[in-house]
Amino acid sequence: MRIWGPASAVLGLLLAAPHLQASSDPRAATVAQGLGAITDPELARGDYVEHCAGCHGVQGLSAPARLPELRGRVGYMMCTAETRSYLLRLPNIAKSRIADNQQLADMLNFMVFGLGGDSVLPGTRPFTADEVASERRFALTSASLVRERQRHVDTAISKCGAPSSLRNFYQSK
Ligand code: HEC
Repeated sequence: MRIWGPASAVLGLLLAAPHLQASSDPRAATVAQGLGAITDPELARGDYVEHCAGCHGVQGLSAPARLPELRGRVGYMMCTAETRSYLLRLPNIAKSRIADNQQLADMLNFMVFGLGGDSVLPGTRPFTADEVASERRFALTSASLVRERQRHVDTAISKCGAPSSLRNFYQSK
């Protein structure tokens, strides 16, 4: 397997998650590539904890709070160019205090590939600073969020094999 980017971070993850060692598994290879694209893994995780975990949880588990669970699910939202844009236009992301676009891309790649896990679709490209820069200019208004989420979740279900439970904010246990 080719090790991308900061090898130590990828190796650390592989050691922590032995099931990802199956390098013939295209999903595991995609996750490894996504994590390898992160220029500063510690900062990316720290930024997530500081800016997002208060609502979405350190592990991406938010239940019973009424907001979308990210762990094992957010990868599906990378389904199409439009659903990727949706993520980058969410107000908490587009208007993040993280001004540096590479730093924000790194944090989002931690979220997608680190927390998204099994929901990552094989072949998913990591976010780049350029993509973040061009999309965050079009922040959604909070009034449109519910409708926008429904639309993009429907796409992920119909085009990318996401489970219909993605319509709910979290998996009911
Ligand atoms: C104040 C609480 C709060 C904070 C802080 C917050 N979010 Fe959210 N987030 C939400 C809510 C609520 C939604 C659902 C929006 C809607 O109604 O569609 C959401 C939606 C999302 C989604 C869409 C997931 C899906 O399944 O539709 C992603 C991805 C996301 N947030 C990531 C982040 C990231 C990354 C950060 C940190 C930069 C962050 N959020 C900070 C509350 C928060």
